[in-house]
Formats: sequence, C-alpha cells, structure tokens
Amino acid sequence: MDKILIRGGQPLHGTVQVRGAKNSTLPLMAASILAEQPCVLHNVPCLHDVFTMDKILSGLGMRIEFTGRYMTLDASSLDSPVAPYDLVRKMRASFFVLGPLLARYGKARVSLPGGCAIGTRPVDIHLKGLEALGAKLTVEEGYVVAEGALTGTEFTLDFPSVGATENLLMAACRAQGMTRLNNVAREPEIVDLAQFLNSLGARISGAGTDLITVVGVDALGGAEHTVIPDRIEAGTFLIAGVATRGDVTVLNANPDHLPSFLNKLRDAAVEVEVQGTRIRARATDGFKASDIITQPFPGFPTDLQAQMMAMLCVADGVSVIKETVFENRFMQVAELARMGADIALDGNAAVVRGVKKMCGAPVMASDLRASAALVIAGLIAERGETAVSRVYHLDRGYERIEERLAALGADIQRVREG
Ligand code: EPZ
Repeated sequence: MDKILIRGGQPLHGTVQVRGAKNSTLPLMAASILAEQPCVLHNVPCLHDVFTMDKILSGLGMRIEFTGRYMTLDASSLDSPVAPYDLVRKMRASFFVLGPLLARYGKARVSLPGGCAIGTRPVDIHLKGLEALGAKLTVEEGYVVAEGALTGTEFTLDFPSVGATENLLMAACRAQGMTRLNNVAREPEIVDLAQFLNSLGARISGAGTDLITVVGVDALGGAEHTVIPDRIEAGTFLIAGVATRGDVTVLNANPDHLPSFLNKLRDAAVEVEVQGTRIRARATDGFKASDIITQPFPGFPTDLQAQMMAMLCVADGVSVIKETVFENRFMQVAELARMGADIALDGNAAVVRGVKKMCGAPVMASDLRASAALVIAGLIAERGETAVSRVYHLDRGYERIEERLAALGADIQRVREG
C-alpha cells in the first residue's frame, strides 16, 4: 500500500484542470446496460472506482474499451445478469446495475452492498421503488434476486437518495407506461444521467427538480456523451488553496454545480471569482470561521464536509459543522486532532475552534473524502511531516492528486509502503 508524505506550510498557487465526475461516470456506465447500440463516453476520469465498474460490467459480458478519457461500451453481448459479491462489496455504486439489468432482461441478481466507514448505507429505498414498479424481489445468500416486467407507477422516495433516484430512473425508462418519482435527488449527476438516457431514446422530464416523470419505451439505442466536471474535485482543490492561504483557480468546472459551497467560501471572507468554467478562490489574508450544514443538492455537499472541516481547523473563529446526510461521516476528526486540531463532537455536529498552527503527523485514511481532508491538513501543517497511509481510499476518487497538488507548489510525494 502507498503512502503520501507532505511537508506543509506553503500557500498553493496556480491552476488545475478538473476531471470528469466520478459520481456521474459510474451511473452512466451502468446505464449503458440499457443501450442496444454501442455508447461512447468522453471526459471519463482515470480512477479506481471506474476500473471497478469496468470489471463488474465486463463480468456481465459488456465489451468496454477505455483509453485516456475515452470509453466505448457495447452491451450487445451482455449475457449474465449477475453482479458478483466480491466486486459489489468493494464499491456500493455497483448496486446501480440492478435497475438497468432488471429493466432490460426482466431479471437480475446483484449482491447487496456492504456498509462502509461512513455508515450502514441501506438500499431500502431502491428496493421499495423497484417493487412499486412491479419487480418481485427476494434476498438469497446476500444477493438481491429481482424479476418481473416493470409497469409505470407513482412512487415517493423517503429521502432524496442519489443512488435510489438513479436506479429507479434507469428502471423506469423501460417500464410499461408512465412513472412519476417524487422527492428525488436533484444533484447535477442526476441531470447528467437523464440527459444521457434521453440521448439513448428515453423520455424523461424534470431531472434536477424533485419530481421526475418517465414515459417508458420499448428499446434504447446508442449515444455519445461527455461526462460533467467533478464538482467535488473542484471544491477539494479550491479548499486546499484557501486552507494554505493561497490562490488557486480550477479550470473546466461548472460553478452552477457548487452554489452553496461557493457561498460558504464567501461567508468565510474568501475572495471567489467566477469566469465561465474558471473558479478562483484567494485567501492570502486568511479566512473566517463559517457554520456548515450538509444537505442534498442544492445544499452544502456532504462530499465536501471533511475537506471543509480541515480548512476550518485554522480559520479565525469557531465553526459548527452539522452532517445530516450520513450517520458517521466524522472519521477524519480523530486524525485531525492528532495534528493539533481543536474539534469537539456532539452527535452529528462538530464544533471546530480555529487554531493558529497544525503539526504534521502519521495519519490513516478511512474513506475517500476523509483522506482528502487529511491531505489538506498536511498541506496546512507548518511543522513536521504528515504521512497519510491507506491512500487507496484517495485513489478511488482523485486522479494522481499528489502530482496535481505538487504542480500548485505543494511539497508532497507518494512512496511505496511495505
Ligand atoms: C452518492 O452515494 C454518492 N456516490 C456519494 O458520494 C454521496 O456522498 C451521496 O450520493 C450523497 O450525495 C455516488 O454517486 C457513487 P444516498 P449514495 O443514497 O447514492 C440513506 C463520494 O465520496 N439511504 O444519497 O449511496 C443513506 O444511508 C461518495 O464520492 C437510505 O437510507 O448516497 C445515506 O444516509 C460517498 N436508504 C443517505 O440516504 C436507501 O435506500 C444518502 O445516501 C438509500 C440511501
């Protein structure tokens, strides 16, 4: 396993290209199961999670070519609607294959995803929605076994779950008749998926609002699609710049995908400049504390909570961070405390008292975004060296992050560990 070594204390300066969105690429790849002609995806990020989804779909018989940022997917020879436990347990997003497999083949056998560091992450909303569409579901030896023809329905999600919205949206495309999905997720990745499905020939309206209507069709063709920019990667690099009192610009971003986050930076007296797809954040004179409540889009994204916490560890003042989306997403707190942070936990709230200095230390990554927070804390630490272990968590969602941070002036390197 690799380690990332950081000697912090230097402000980051410069520009960095934002890659394609991981949380759009994964459902888009799953959606290609529905396509009866080959599909092409552009701007695909080179990430471990994408490789895992490639393995899962190839295991189902999908033919995938992935070079650079260009991916072709051909589902014409798909032959086994079984997604195996050993791959699904590694990545929850693999559960997104259930809806399309069921919709196209009338049957599917997909392992239940395990929990993970940030919570139990049940799939009850996915299953209730598929049953509302007429699927017969049983659970056998840790697998969901689904079968039956799908019929349009009206279904209200208990919570605007991103994954459940995506699974149900893909299933409804091939259901007989009209489906209305209420209280759906409104994330940009949902809009991206709906646009891709419509380019395959689906009839979806309302994506991006809390009510999506789908009129089922008999078949879906092929399409070419460009993945939207990764808003969480953009936010992570901007936070790294601010946290080090630097001046960083992200390129090829979409500021409309980060409304609440950019407002929070402005609240913290950070200079934010938006010009088309360029977003610049400058904090050379430091920044203030800011209270954060994570919420479904368009609220503050839970996937930027840990990174923001690392930044607020050295803000001027006291910040209160409330995590309302996941039940256990403060895994970074104990590690940040080892570096001198002053954070008190009270249920789903964290009180972060800004300190003057942080100090490097050996720390352990626990999940994707917590590991990004530890890297940011390492960039802040003015004394000592930070060694982040278990960086495979980081590689799931960030492409060569150490090289791209080094290009912004960070003293950071990856070393092989053991
Ligand atoms: C997606 O996960 C993202 N992953 C997550 O990003 C992101 O944090 C999350 O949405 C919220 O925005 C991908 O898109 C691949 P949810 P997902 O279903 O779909 C509960 C990252 O770091 N819930 O919206 O799994 C669930 O337990 C990852 O890139 C149910 O109770 O998230 C959680 O508390 C982490 N029952 C909340 O809803 C269900 O059936 C939000 O989960 C489904 C979800």
